[in-house]
Parts: sequence; C-alpha cells; structure tokens
Amino acid sequence: MSYQIRLMGDPVLRQAASSIENIDGRIVQIVDDMVPAMYQAEGIGLAAPQVGIQKRLFVYDIGEGPQTLVNPEIVDSDGEWSFEEGCLSLPGLSFELIRPKQVHLVGRDLDGNEVSIEADELLARLFQHELDHLDGVLLLDHLERDERKAALRQWREIQNPPNSDLVSRTDISLP
Ligand code: NI
Repeated sequence: MSYQIRLMGDPVLRQAASSIENIDGRIVQIVDDMVPAMYQAEGIGLAAPQVGIQKRLFVYDIGEGPQTLVNPEIVDSDGEWSFEEGCLSLPGLSFELIRPKQVHLVGRDLDGNEVSIEADELLARLFQHELDHLDGVLLLDHLERDERKAALRQWREIQNPPNSDLVSRTDISLP
C-alpha cells in the first residue's frame, strides 16, 4: 500500500501518538511503506502521524540510507542553531527557526535494539522536528503570533490559489 502524506488541517497531525509496545510485523510493514513515501516526496524525514498512523516512530535519511527510530525521546539538548525548516505536511512553506543545536536522542531501532545518538545541526534539527510530529506539534506552533497569522494566510493561498479554476483549465489545454 502506498501512503498519502497528510497535510496541515488534517486532525491526525494534531494528536499525540502512542508508544509502540511490540515491534511486530505490522510495524515493520508500516516502515516499509513509509520509506518510499518519504523518498517520493523528496523528504529527509517522515513521522508516522504524517501518514495517519498514531504511533511513536519516524523514518529518516540524511544521506546514509533509511533509518527508523521507535519510541524516540530527546533526553538532553544544548546550544542554539538557526535553520530554515520545511515540512512535508506544509509543502511550499518554510521558516527560519532557532532550536537547540545538539540533542541526545534515545529510542529503539526496528530490531528492538536500544539506540543512543548524539546529533548535531541537521540531524539534531530533524530529530526535533519529527519528535514534534509525534506530539501533534507543527512548525507554525513555533512562530510568533503575527508570523503565524501570515503563514496561515500564505497556506490558504497555496491550498486555494486565486483563479485556480482558470489555472487548471489552462493547464488542460496545454500540450
Ligand atoms: Ni514535518
């Protein structure tokens, strides 16, 4: 089965996901389906709630092949780093956010082994972003009130572009 990535506005993105008790065949299947969905969307990370699954897991690939983290937790963080962050659930939007530069994440891999990762910069940012998804938090929640309002306006325009009927008719007539 191929997953459709849920977009902001879908209530599933606002719910906290539950811990995974057993890493069974069903969980492995979810991961097997999430990884191609992430690549197809050209993302570097994808959390289970983004495909409608309320489980605490995410997949990612920052150039070293696909990885999975189950029941991840950030146990320590340090520093500050500014980075322009996007999200597959908010295509077309990105925001410069300051978050901790380093994080220490613990969790399990898909084989159930305990993992402990000291991450810096991009990987640390990815971990914080995906952890947010497991708690029902989206990028907009990190913005100041005015910035958030502007972002919501922009989002509505992306979702319903003015003259969208005209645009689609024009597209159809093109060779
Ligand atoms: Ni995201």
